[in-house]
Amino acid sequence: MSHAAIDLRVPDLAGLHQRRSEKWSVQEPDVLASTVAEMDFPLASEVVAALHAAVDRHDLGYTPPGVTQLLAAFADFARRRLGWGVDQDQITLVPDVMAGLIELCRALLEPGQQVAFFTPAYPPFFPELPQARVELVLLPLATAGAVDLEALEAALAGGVRALVLNNPHNPTGRVMTRAKLEQIADLCTSYGCWVLADEIHAPLVLADAAHTPWLEVSQAARERGIALTSASKAFNVAGLKAAMMITASDRARQAVRRMPPLTDRVGILGVIAAEAAFSYGDSWLDAVRAQLADNRELLGELLTTELPKITWEPPQASYLAWLDCRALALGDNPAEAFLTRGRVALSPGLDYGREGAGFVRLNFGTSPEHLTESVRRMTRAIS
Ligand SMILES: Cc1ncc(COP(=O)(O)O)c(C=O)c1O
Repeated sequence: MSHAAIDLRVPDLAGLHQRRSEKWSVQEPDVLASTVAEMDFPLASEVVAALHAAVDRHDLGYTPPGVTQLLAAFADFARRRLGWGVDQDQITLVPDVMAGLIELCRALLEPGQQVAFFTPAYPPFFPELPQARVELVLLPLATAGAVDLEALEAALAGGVRALVLNNPHNPTGRVMTRAKLEQIADLCTSYGCWVLADEIHAPLVLADAAHTPWLEVSQAARERGIALTSASKAFNVAGLKAAMMITASDRARQAVRRMPPLTDRVGILGVIAAEAAFSYGDSWLDAVRAQLADNRELLGELLTTELPKITWEPPQASYLAWLDCRALALGDNPAEAFLTRGRVALSPGLDYGREGAGFVRLNFGTSPEHLTESVRRMTRAIS
């Protein structure tokens, strides 16, 4: 199917405000939301059909153990789209990636032990990982998203027992090179540190970058690595609650067995949607990736002409732009001025860690028209 056959038209602002999800429902009606990591595009028609069919069957009960069709669909998708050989028996369902990360920290670490992640970082890492009674160690990235291996080694030497490695990275959109991942794997192995690889944005890697799944990096990466992923970001079904943890070594499999089973808390509609997405969603996904690449270019042009003081590194994956607004002199939280004066809601950089002072995160998973309007509103806010 050609991309032209895929309908990615986005409703107008009033239509978007009818949505009940967090992104739209928490904003006042005149505000254009560019916040929560959800895209505004219509869902893949195959996902919609599978969900409609489930409702028509009155099939909204508990998720059964097993779900072999989903596991087979993901294994095929991973091989076809991500260059990742996954056996179905390596996969364990969890309701969402965050629940998986928290429970893995609880199972792998003793209370008070240290878990590290690179910052800026997906905001829920800060309040939610400590639910596992672990201590957080924050590892600042360079502004362009580069990992400081010396700082990582110092943290490992200081006792970090698990590294949450988000790749492709939210909010910078960086995709790590295989060479960098190999170095991280070697370092973590030499200190006996687990790597929890959050790869939720991987299917949205854009055409000019190559993503290497953690469990394909090396034997060292497989030994103490557990990958987490989901259809939720790539196929826009985050509210449906069905994610996966994947292992590739006996040691990791045994660690996962120590966790309380969470399959009962996985939503049946999430399983049904993910199975349809991974089985039949390729054309939709390619159309979305093409649209995102166009939007990324459009955003670059708009920033150059309208907001030349904002600087950014165009992301290599997904639909999030990490914008350095420090030269605008709007203080630590420029999102406030953009919202109050421009009526466009952006994510405050400070939510992602101290390095986010003076930054905002913009979501370009929308129509070119809404993206243009977001930048127009940002411009209005500062003029
Ligand atoms: C890097 C990253 N990890 C995890 C999540 C949350 O995933 P889930 O809803 O499956 O917990 C997100 C959501 O945006 C994310 O960007």
